[in-house]
Amino acid sequence: MSFRRRTLLKVIVLGDSGVGKTSLMNQYVHKRFSQQYKATIGADFVTKELQIDDKIVTLQIWDTAGQERFQSLGIAFYRGADCCVLVYDVNVTRSFETLDNWHEEFLKQANPSDPSSFPFILLGNKIDIDGGNSREVSEKKAAEWCSSKGNIPYYETSAKEDHNVDDAFLHIAKSAMANE
Ligand code: GTP
Ligand code: MG
Repeated sequence: MSFRRRTLLKVIVLGDSGVGKTSLMNQYVHKRFSQQYKATIGADFVTKELQIDDKIVTLQIWDTAGQERFQSLGIAFYRGADCCVLVYDVNVTRSFETLDNWHEEFLKQANPSDPSSFPFILLGNKIDIDGGNSREVSEKKAAEWCSSKGNIPYYETSAKEDHNVDDAFLHIAKSAMANE
């Protein structure tokens, strides 16, 4: 039997309250969705094992609180992160406008050795709502933001309808692995 090294990849999910961070993780890991909103307090992680090429990797995905009063994470929390996932709601302009802050804050706290090459991924969530008719942020606008930050990969997702969730997290895992 061939020897397989186990790899633990730390992923941090950030974004405004209510954009669907917890829902995306629940859909990805447990294949569950709930309409009910329950604010995340502090931070918590789930793990998911997956195979990439001939390697088994464990994704340790940290879900964080979007609500300011529930944010109590120290610098130590961000250290050692292999990938940062930024989430916004395509129906809420404000959640898109705060991406700059989340991006900047992450780099400040995590302080990676090479900030310009640190892997981020952007998810534009809730594309299912109103068949896209209540959308406030266009795909083009999101793509422009991504290229202004050094070509961050972008996925449009629906945690509710399980759209693009697996694909996005596979990309996240591969990016995290490349950064290891
Ligand atoms: P905080 O924990 O406060 O930071 O919020 P969060 O980003 O974790 O948001 P959460 O996953 O709790 O989702 C907020 C609300 O949006 C919940 O009522 C979810 O059911 C709903 N929601 C999340 N994702 C989707 C989606 O893709 N489509 C629709 N229609 N609703 C969603
Ligand atoms: Mg949450």
